Amino acid sequence: MRTKVVAGNWKMNNDKKESKQLIKDLKKSIKKEKLKNTRVIVAPTFVNLSSSVKAAKKSKIEVVAQNMHQAKNGAYTGEISANMLKAIGIETVILGHSERRTYFNETDETLAAKVDAILENKLETIFCFGELLEDRKSDNHFAVVESQLKNALFHLEADAWKSIILAYEPVWAIGTGETASPEQAQEMHAFIRNIIEKQYNKEVADGVSILYGGSVKPANAEEIFSKPDVDGGLIGGAALKVEDFTAIIKAI
Ligand code: G3P
Repeated sequence: MRTKVVAGNWKMNNDKKESKQLIKDLKKSIKKEKLKNTRVIVAPTFVNLSSSVKAAKKSKIEVVAQNMHQAKNGAYTGEISANMLKAIGIETVILGHSERRTYFNETDETLAAKVDAILENKLETIFCFGELLEDRKSDNHFAVVESQLKNALFHLEADAWKSIILAYEPVWAIGTGETASPEQAQEMHAFIRNIIEKQYNKEVADGVSILYGGSVKPANAEEIFSKPDVDGGLIGGAALKVEDFTAIIKAI
């Protein structure tokens, strides 16, 4: 049975105190939740990872990074390597978020190298991808998503997929309040699972958790999560409010 995941991508929000407080409040609000086969994840900014890992200790909350560089070390001003993240207790890293692709020109090739670094360091990734509005309007969204996955992930051996969580985030739904319909999410998730099965096999395809991201809110979470190929969500704005994030977790 696939693992369900509700992950909060805090992006560039919350200072050290706010991060610790949000984790403390979240610990309390999900304390009584069974969360069977479900992972609850938060992604603070780099500078708050260490203190957030400590704040989340002995709780059901996992703290992950929002990005990392593919090199082991070197002249990469402002970057953070996999081993630096591991040293502070980080085991999972979000990669390929559309904001990284848009604002920092991260290409499929760069992301393939980052995924390789994840695997070399025995880490796990939540790998983001998704089409632009113009891709969908021109009915090119399936081709775009297939190309993003093929270019960054389809070089991997089947076994490597145990360390991959996918997050389909249609860019036109991120931060816009324009959520993909549950049917649109299911259609794309089923397509993604199908191309993975064709490239690898049914076991790999059925084993990978595929999250939906893009304006998930308490009001729409349950219907989106009810779809057979949706295994959870990657949440932005709503993850910054403990009551909304808790409501979304309860909807899984
Ligand atoms: O990574 C999750 C994020 O991109 C979704 O943002 O605010 O639309 O939930 P939001």
